Amino acid sequence: MNKDKVLVIDDEMSPRESLRMVLKEKYEVNTVSGGVEGLDFLKHNLVDLVVLDIKMPVMDGITALKEIKKDHPDIEVILLTAYASLDTARDAIRFGAFDYLMKPFDKDDVLSVVERGMQKRHASEKVKSEFITLLNKTNALEEQIAMAHDNIMSCYEGTVKALNLAIDAKDHYTYNHSNRVARLASLLAESLGLSYNIREKIEHAAAIHDIGKIGIDESVLKKNGQLTPEEFEGMKKHPEIGAKIVRSVPFLEEAVPVILYHHERFDGKGYKNLKGEQIPLSARIVMAADAVDAMMNARPYRDSLPMVNVFNELKENSGTQFDPMIVDLIINGKVSLEMIHNANCSIRSKN
Ligand SMILES: [Fe+2]
Repeated sequence: MNKDKVLVIDDEMSPRESLRMVLKEKYEVNTVSGGVEGLDFLKHNLVDLVVLDIKMPVMDGITALKEIKKDHPDIEVILLTAYASLDTARDAIRFGAFDYLMKPFDKDDVLSVVERGMQKRHASEKVKSEFITLLNKTNALEEQIAMAHDNIMSCYEGTVKALNLAIDAKDHYTYNHSNRVARLASLLAESLGLSYNIREKIEHAAAIHDIGKIGIDESVLKKNGQLTPEEFEGMKKHPEIGAKIVRSVPFLEEAVPVILYHHERFDGKGYKNLKGEQIPLSARIVMAADAVDAMMNARPYRDSLPMVNVFNELKENSGTQFDPMIVDLIINGKVSLEMIHNANCSIRSKN
């Protein structure tokens, strides 16, 4: 087993060699004759404990102690002092010295103080190594959490994409419309100052807000004209159907209110008669984005509306169909018609 290492720094040969004799049986002992030499030795060698004389020429022991503690804070230092410099030795404890030995020293005292110094050194090393182990475990755990989060996110995004493509398979118009609504809803949410995470959830929910339409008869869904009252009643079920589909995916839970309530009007005259702030904010945002996009895009049975008319429709229906707070974002230019138009075009060009 490797012995613990002691360095004795003393300008006088007699105490230096006496210490070597006392300590050599139990420790690996090296000696040098001054502070400068001692610091140089420590630069190139591993040492556990230094026995350091206070009164030395060139570099005194207190200066050497401060230098040792600056570069090697883990090395324990025991000072050697004559009676005359006893107060200095006591004072030196505050500079990081472990203890002191008074000359002429007693063999048992030397062994006892050095032993205690070594015990402290090993205890500090143990704490340090436990800390490093803990730090490594924490880092590994953080990596695992990040990987799990990435997996969940890729699962989440993959599911949204799959549902989005299911809409595409059923009705390409609704697919394109849903993606444009997602972008508009995200713009509105951003202007309301909502956090990135919430905006992202609203955008994803908006992309699948009409997922329930996959349960609606194709002849109704793609009808080029007004729906009969019966057909309209059937169409009104798509939020319920969509919510039922999405409820089966636990991590899409937050999309349910958007899917279920995106046809609610602010005045309570929507599909389920929820009113004002009873309607979740995310659903009010998607409702406005849904209507704006529908007005801006032509259908086989009607033309698209010019931007100025979209603006007027929003103003006229603020507080009845739409949440005034959301309409205000557009009227006050926080979300400009140009931004809406550009978002609409950039999404259209992606499809
Ligand atoms: Fe809808």
